[in-house]
Amino acid sequence: NWTMENFIDTEIKRIRTLVGPTAEVIGAVSGGVDSTVAAKLMTEAIGDRFHAIMVDNGVLRLNEAENVKKNLVAGLGINLTVVDASDEFLDKLKGVTDPEKKRKIIGNTFIHVFEREAEKIKPKDGTEIEFLLQGTLYPDVIESISFKGPSQTIKTHHNVGGLLENMKLKLIEPLRELFKDEVRHLGELLGIPHDLVWRHPFPGPGIAIRVLGEVTRAQVDIARKADYIYIEEIRKAGLYGQISQAFACLLPVKSVGVMGDQRTYDQVIALRAIETTDFMTADWFPFPHEFLKKVAARIVNEVDGVARVTYDITSKPPATVEWE
Ligand code: XMP
Repeated sequence: NWTMENFIDTEIKRIRTLVGPTAEVIGAVSGGVDSTVAAKLMTEAIGDRFHAIMVDNGVLRLNEAENVKKNLVAGLGINLTVVDASDEFLDKLKGVTDPEKKRKIIGNTFIHVFEREAEKIKPKDGTEIEFLLQGTLYPDVIESISFKGPSQTIKTHHNVGGLLENMKLKLIEPLRELFKDEVRHLGELLGIPHDLVWRHPFPGPGIAIRVLGEVTRAQVDIARKADYIYIEEIRKAGLYGQISQAFACLLPVKSVGVMGDQRTYDQVIALRAIETTDFMTADWFPFPHEFLKKVAARIVNEVDGVARVTYDITSKPPATVEWE
């Protein structure tokens, strides 16, 4: 009979047979649930012959690289290398304002950096890395086979398919028959912390598509500080689990404000929070007014460069979840 406990045993055996006694495996981790569960499962199966790589692309959430390192290495025993490539990504993003161009640049740079890192961790004894781990879920498999819906044509979701061809790697996808809720259950059984297992999704292009207009280090800093405060307050209010996804966007407009007896002229933060089952349609989350009041006050007081906070009350459709 099919149980998640049986699935773990069967999958670990299948991975060991597939990889054999000496081959090495690499895989990218993002700090999200899918890649973490896949990496933990792989570590259970083959230990340090699995090499996880996390690329810091400069548009991650506040303190994200350090947090992932703490969770995955210290907490889960995963053999992880974190690569700080933020300068490289931010350099390439200079002057770029078009959302699809941002996605393309981040996707391509990711592949480039990942390949370079994979070269460095090549086993010393001359054996090659043979496999690439991917945390593909069943819905991703279906989508890539048959789905031609709006999210594919409106926004290109970046993937690492190019890695397979360039590096001549074989693919391992231990989660390819599972749905999201099953991956979360699997994560809990593998001892992955609750907060990580239930984390909101975060897009590959990260804060680059939440800083509208040009992406600079200063703009990313503002966006991630505001986002951090927002998510912290959502957790404090006990609302995190009721929301499917929440984040802050930094708008490329300035607005007049007043702080003390000073006139200010700074940017605008837009907060977004949605409830959805499938991310194809979504409703905005009905926060209590007191909550919004508190978050707005904290963001304007604590984040330099922000004069005003707004809350996005647009459903999907007609709006998308992300602003870009
Ligand atoms: P949209 O904005 O298309 O978002 O309504 C639906 C879901 O997809 C996520 N999203 C992305 N994820 N790369 C990703 O990995 C992307 O380029 C991308 N664009 C949107 C979005 O965060 C939401 O969960």
